[in-house]
Amino acid sequence: MRILTGIQSSGRPHLGNILGAIKPAIDLSVQPGNDSFFFIADLHSLTSLRDGETRREFTRAVAAAWLAFGLDTERNTFWRQSRVAEHTELAWYLECFTPMPMLQNATAFKEKTEKMAVSSVNSGLFVYPILQAADIVLYDANIVPVGKDQRQNLEITRDVASAFNRQYGEILVIPEARIDERVMTIPGLDGQKMSKSYNNYIDIFLPENELYKVVKKIKSDSTPLEEPKNPDTDSTFQLYSLVATDAQVQDLRSRYEAGGYGYGSAKKELYELLVEKYATERERFTYFMTENPDALEAELRAGEEKARAVARQTIDRVRQVLGFN
Ligand code: ADP
Ligand code: TRP
Repeated sequence: MRILTGIQSSGRPHLGNILGAIKPAIDLSVQPGNDSFFFIADLHSLTSLRDGETRREFTRAVAAAWLAFGLDTERNTFWRQSRVAEHTELAWYLECFTPMPMLQNATAFKEKTEKMAVSSVNSGLFVYPILQAADIVLYDANIVPVGKDQRQNLEITRDVASAFNRQYGEILVIPEARIDERVMTIPGLDGQKMSKSYNNYIDIFLPENELYKVVKKIKSDSTPLEEPKNPDTDSTFQLYSLVATDAQVQDLRSRYEAGGYGYGSAKKELYELLVEKYATERERFTYFMTENPDALEAELRAGEEKARAVARQTIDRVRQVLGFN
């Protein structure tokens, strides 16, 4: 099966991205018979982020996170979307097959723009799902692992690719979304979904002292230290449970329930667990970000060549039926 997914470089990768997207995708990629295409959706980030230097840093950080979590770039293909011009080429073709109301009614578009003045809504936001459709069909992807919020974008991809095929025959592969309903939404510092847009995220690659500062910001209720506490409504406990072993979770649960155990201690426990559990990943991240940025660049360049070779084949088929070659 060909697996494909992308993550925008619109922020530093956080624990939600890692547990909700990067790790599950890497787990799929190691299953025998799977061939994976993972990329940094830096073109998509232009809909929300303008500064070039910032984008460059975020792109490197997202790439370093994939590598830190063990993506095997020999067996799979890993690249920056913007470096393979076929993405935007195919997006234009597909736009000409997309009825405008399909994009106007897309929930993500409506949500992103409802509070904006119409004059400040850029057209990139409008055609965003079609660039995404191009990303997917360009590589003949069968399975696209994504979060629940991406369900509609995948429906749009399927609709547009099917419309294209109805006219020209079996040119594009129709992909399927793989949405793991069990993957819980990782809570952020304030208890709502961890997201860069809410500025409530945990960047596990921060230096130790900064990471501890962030963990200490997790919201907790005002139950006094001596009293028993409810672990199931506490974000620190929830985050701890996502990373710890069953035995560690049981242990922390009993300390919450016994009373005499404060949230400050739980946060320290969580911080220590993150540093210990992700020691290797934190080291690898620093390696790619600061010690050897050339190694990161080399990985992406090599991936780009592999990606382009596959993309070219799809573009040739498409150009052929459209009369562009
Ligand atoms: P953000 O909400 O920070 O902007 P993105 O929308 O760029 O994150 O998400 C990138 C990937 O990470 C998506 O596949 C998304 O489903 C996943 N993801 C982001 N936040 C979370 C979260 N809090 N819990 C689980 N998965 C998440
Ligand atoms: N829209 C996706 C998100 O915000 C990112 C993305 C871009 C993507 N192109 C893709 C995901 C192709 C899967 C496949 O998370």
